[in-house]
Amino acid sequence: MKGIILAGGLGTRFRPLSHTGPKQLVPIANKPVLYYVIEDLVEAGIKEIGIVVGYTEEKVNAIKDAVGDGSRWNCKVAYIQQDAPRGLAHAVGICRDFIGGEAFIVYLGDNILREGIVPYASEFYKSDADAYLLVAEVEEPNKYGIAVLSEAGELIDVEEKPQAPRSNLAIIGVYMFKPCIFEMIDLVQPSWRGELEITDAIRKLLRSGKYTVLARQITGWWDDTGTVEAVLNANNLILSDLKGESLGEIEEDVRIIGQVKIGEGTKILKGSVVKGPSIIGDNCLIGPDSYIGGYTSIGHNVTVKGGEIESSIIYNNVTIRYKGRIVDSIIGDYSEILNGQQNPKGE
Ligand code: DAU
Repeated sequence: MKGIILAGGLGTRFRPLSHTGPKQLVPIANKPVLYYVIEDLVEAGIKEIGIVVGYTEEKVNAIKDAVGDGSRWNCKVAYIQQDAPRGLAHAVGICRDFIGGEAFIVYLGDNILREGIVPYASEFYKSDADAYLLVAEVEEPNKYGIAVLSEAGELIDVEEKPQAPRSNLAIIGVYMFKPCIFEMIDLVQPSWRGELEITDAIRKLLRSGKYTVLARQITGWWDDTGTVEAVLNANNLILSDLKGESLGEIEEDVRIIGQVKIGEGTKILKGSVVKGPSIIGDNCLIGPDSYIGGYTSIGHNVTVKGGEIESSIIYNNVTIRYKGRIVDSIIGDYSEILNGQQNPKGE
């Protein structure tokens, strides 16, 4: 099977950070979301992946620079450009030539699944299903595509972001298809939000009566990293499984509590406390007298002097010299947060 990753879109819910970088490269425990997606596909035996990218040159290049030709994962990556964010069905539709006549897996480039996809991919592969969906219970089903199942667990219907949801099962961002989905995509009309919805193409498969569509409820957690809250949640969940290790230098009078991973060339200076689960990248300077609380990911080349940071994501090349508390925050590349900036006094 081949894989398709959808990494176009505008990322409007993740502004302002998505103005400059693609949301699929948001670091979760210091690793871009997109890498988790590639790893899951490769773990499921996929060796050829097509990544659908958007049309903003800067974002496309950022994705190409981060992923390259896929050799790092022992797979082959091709890029397929989408001229505008016309919807998931459109994004899948433009991959028709890349897919050829094989079954394939579509993985949304901003989704993250704790348990990966191996058992599901192998069930789909062995089954005679034409489409195979993964679903999970959610609190706000109106924000997702939803699946309606019968008491026997058979898929009866699907609907995209319904105002009055008939189920609390969200369709999560991993779809497995046979090429018959392309015929249905051709028939899909734009939805109320002006997009060609993959959910509508799946509904057409179901309603045709000719095709088999299976849905399986996943057992581990899943996160669609579309919003700041969802990104922080994914970071917490991934960090919960972190194993501590230090490749850096830790001065005396520093307290490391719980699972903390510290990268090469990083120094933790005296009087600091670092509480796990937390990760600190390479070449960082933490302290003196800084507090890094649990569930924090700090990227590479970051300086944190004094102050407290907790349950936050700090990207790379950031300088924080701030005595206050930073909590539940995401701080982008090259940010500077400084104490008492000297602004000129007015007359
Ligand atoms: O996360 C699961 C949900 O993903 C499903 O429950 C919904 O049924 C499905 O429509 C989708 O909803 P979202 O509104 O969250 O999709 P979003 O616009 O965030 O796009 C998902 C990914 O696909 C993201 O990595 C961007 C990419 N994309 C999106 C569009 C609209 C493209 O590559 N091209 C596009 O045209």
